[in-house]
Amino acid sequence: MKIVIINGSARRGNTLTAIDAFIKGASEKNEIEIIQPDRLHIAPCKGCGACQCYKGCIDQDDTNPTIDKITAADVILFATPVYWWGMSAQLKLIIDKCYCRGLQLKNKKVGTIVVGGSPVDSIQYELIDKQFDCMAKYLSWDMIFQKSYYATASDELAKDKDSIKELENIGKNL
Ligand SMILES: Cc1cc2nc3c(=O)[nH]c(=O)nc-3n(C[C@H](O)[C@H](O)[C@H](O)COP(=O)(O)O)c2cc1C
Repeated sequence: MKIVIINGSARRGNTLTAIDAFIKGASEKNEIEIIQPDRLHIAPCKGCGACQCYKGCIDQDDTNPTIDKITAADVILFATPVYWWGMSAQLKLIIDKCYCRGLQLKNKKVGTIVVGGSPVDSIQYELIDKQFDCMAKYLSWDMIFQKSYYATASDELAKDKDSIKELENIGKNL
């Protein structure tokens, strides 16, 4: 399968650690690409509506090539740190820009990885999971996993061997 991973963190920290563990398990049988929004030039959605009568977004930046990759994927993995009780702006920027090709995102297999600096029973993880549940319902996604992890310092998740093993197994068992 083609897996596209969107990394909502700009630092080489816990979200990337989680992604790397997932890739370790998944790379043998799948083709994987990581999208790193902070390294792209993507203007925020202006809600201009031009995309409704044009083939994609009218912005002449990295928007359309990025969305081409996402629509071509069998599996989309959204990975994000918790920023202010929600997903990061970097990830949300990409999701907003998918509006121009929204229906082409239908019926995807989708996973989410959320890493925050509070314990996993905090409301923030529930809020983020619920937001993805709503998108999943709207776009008929098959939500294959939704995982939350508690780690603050950038090297903290790497020390949590059980979580790393869990992520490797999720990748392996896709
Ligand atoms: C701007 C900002 C906002 C944050 N807001 C929250 C928050 O609301 N709840 C929380 O638990 N952690 C919050 N954190 C902590 C990060 O989620 C946490 O450090 C996480 O491990 C960062 O992931 P990373 O290492 O992949 O960047 C915030 C961090 C930043 C930089």
